[in-house]
Amino acid sequence: MTQTLTIPRPDDWHLHLRDGAMLKAVLPETARHFGRAIIMPNLVPPVVTGADASAYRDRILAAMPEGADFTPLMTLYLTEETDPEDVAKAAADGLVHAVKLYPAGATTNSASGVTDFDKVRPVLEKMAEIGLPLCLHGEVTDPDIDIFDREAVFIDRVLDPIRKATPGLRVVMEHVTTADAVAYVQGAPKDLAATITAHHLVINRNHILVGGIRPHYYCLPVAKREVHRQALVTAATSGDARFFLGTDSAPHIDALKEHACGCAGCFTATNAVSVVAEIFDRESALDQLAAFLSLNGATHYKLPVSVRTLTLRKGEHCTYPSKIDSDDGPVTVFDPGFPLHWSVTTGK
Ligand code: DOR
Ligand code: ZN
Repeated sequence: MTQTLTIPRPDDWHLHLRDGAMLKAVLPETARHFGRAIIMPNLVPPVVTGADASAYRDRILAAMPEGADFTPLMTLYLTEETDPEDVAKAAADGLVHAVKLYPAGATTNSASGVTDFDKVRPVLEKMAEIGLPLCLHGEVTDPDIDIFDREAVFIDRVLDPIRKATPGLRVVMEHVTTADAVAYVQGAPKDLAATITAHHLVINRNHILVGGIRPHYYCLPVAKREVHRQALVTAATSGDARFFLGTDSAPHIDALKEHACGCAGCFTATNAVSVVAEIFDRESALDQLAAFLSLNGATHYKLPVSVRTLTLRKGEHCTYPSKIDSDDGPVTVFDPGFPLHWSVTTGK
């Protein structure tokens, strides 16, 4: 029996598009299924000012495939030198939809991030005043903290103090990976939300490490124990408006993933919608799929829900390429490790 499901066109509330040859290669993968995406600013050098964001948006629009209807929602990379007035102007111009805080050293290209959180206080206060969301990479970088504990410690040491010191600041805790983060978000008022990736709904830390090391499953925050994955699935499928998809699709060429010091990032843009649908189907939660993919994020970012649609159709199986090509080299598409059944067609 064919089953179909039509939902408003999904958005990706956390995406790495990179630049140059990689941008050209990965942009069509996202634009095929998603209508908008929050574009991460961790280029080298990072997208720090409104002028940087405007130039980057132009490069994205120039790389857009023929006939695509996709809107990049730009963000600024928060540094200790960020000028609150520049942020306010970029937001007022409709150019920038969030500011991204990377603790310095937390992940790929985060060296220009924040070490002293007091130094960014004026920017955070300005953002609270104008209602501009703060996106957070929620991991401490203290070498004494075990990598599997870094998200939970971040909540106590950084996130909670920032929220208490900046009332009214709208925050998105990005790519949450723990039951601790889910509980914290559930217990907070609606000005706090969280993105969840497709891959963290699928893998736990055993998938990375048991039977050989799987570099294409290595990302940051690193996947945790199974109990945490289950908490993420429960949150995503609950319909709670504070949780929505942010794929964190993060392309790195295979040569740099399959490496003595492999880069962090799972590339999921190509199949994320089908992967998420599969998870929701397994949980008998397809009635909540539109909330997670298409409604909750738009509400948090105070943007209209897409008037375009996307139709998912359940069949024998639906296949995706295992790699995509770029002029820099091949990029491996995330392998969920189980067959996918929901194929995607886009409507008007
Ligand atoms: O796995 C990740 N890859 N996590 C991040 O936070 C950054 C991203 C990237 O840019 O490669
Ligand atoms: Zn990311």
